Amino acid sequence: MLSDRHGRTVDYLRVSVTDRCDLRCTYCMPQDYRGFENPPDWLTYEEIERVVAAFVRLGTRRVRLTGGEPLTRGGLAGLAARLAALPGLDDLSLSTNATRLARHAPALRAAGIDRINVSLDSLDRTCMAGITGRDSLPAILAGLAAAQEAGFDPIKINMVAMKGVNEHEIEPMAAFCIERGFILRLIEVMPMGATGQGTDWLPLGPVRERLVERFGLLPQARELGGGPARYLATPDGRASIGFITPLSQHFCATCNRVRLAVDGTLYMCLGQEQSVPLRPLLRSGASDAALEAAIRAAIELKPLQHDFNRQPGKIVRFMSQTGG
Ligand code: GTP
Ligand code: 5AD
Ligand code: SF4
Repeated sequence: MLSDRHGRTVDYLRVSVTDRCDLRCTYCMPQDYRGFENPPDWLTYEEIERVVAAFVRLGTRRVRLTGGEPLTRGGLAGLAARLAALPGLDDLSLSTNATRLARHAPALRAAGIDRINVSLDSLDRTCMAGITGRDSLPAILAGLAAAQEAGFDPIKINMVAMKGVNEHEIEPMAAFCIERGFILRLIEVMPMGATGQGTDWLPLGPVRERLVERFGLLPQARELGGGPARYLATPDGRASIGFITPLSQHFCATCNRVRLAVDGTLYMCLGQEQSVPLRPLLRSGASDAALEAAIRAAIELKPLQHDFNRQPGKIVRFMSQTGG
């Protein structure tokens, strides 16, 4: 089991398979971003599998594939199948923007991905084009339909709530998700790199109150994943809405995760700089024991919490670099 200096168990690894994306969401990556990693510096799928296997031997139970957009890298279902076969891994999930999901959903499901989270910030085509920098809504809706058809359950919708941008679309989105059986999660936008800083975050407390009133939401008894969302349920218990509030009510005291970036850097926190490069170890013939020792030493560096509220300009790397 991996534990940090603050008494937290780390059993959730998030693996970014690429820092590239076919969209340019305003809170994630600048329109003209050019700082991508070179493919020779990407961990190969074999190297990723080796790191994940080491984490699983050390007690990791959950793995989430992220990006960038993970489906822009070919062969993802093959990687997923190899990870799903690791004994001891209970939960393999994917975060995607869904633009390519219509094509890939059946293969990903067959490979053993249990559940997926999809970014969708608006149901208005023009608004979505403004946020993502592309006319993305039709492909995303097709991707969502294909994911349901392929049997993913649950499917969560991540909606980053931004003041004056999509706040008026929260209620229609909630109604859509309740009707379709998606779990909606509303998210306060974090200042990551220059992008997140320019966007006004929307405190979710008052939004939550409005939704409780409109939909009669009640406390959610079931556990719905391994992440930081706090959930409410509809009175019939069939639908849930989660609130991810890194700024108004952060959840660092129960943080259970670290992130592996595509270049093999292990980041200890979304909102801090502590990191350890694993690629040099992987490419210098290090033993499994040495890899495990490096992971244990890295977890020692895990900070107590982020500093987004006190130092909003502190983190200069973009979300697309760390993995969401
Ligand atoms: P589940 O296992 O389904 O609960 O996944 P998740 O909510 O952990 O993953 P997802 O990739 O869908 O992330 C949803 C939102 O939560 C994104 O905005 C993430 O950046 C944010 N998030 C996830 N983990 C952390 C974290 O450790 N710290 C902070 N500050 N935000 C996080
Ligand atoms: N703040 C909060 N959430 C973000 N995401 C991407 N960038 C940010 C940010 N700056 C979310 C997207 C995606 C998830 C993995 O991370 O909604 O679904
Ligand atoms: Fe964990 Fe850092 Fe996220 Fe807090 S900000 S929950 S410590 S990763």
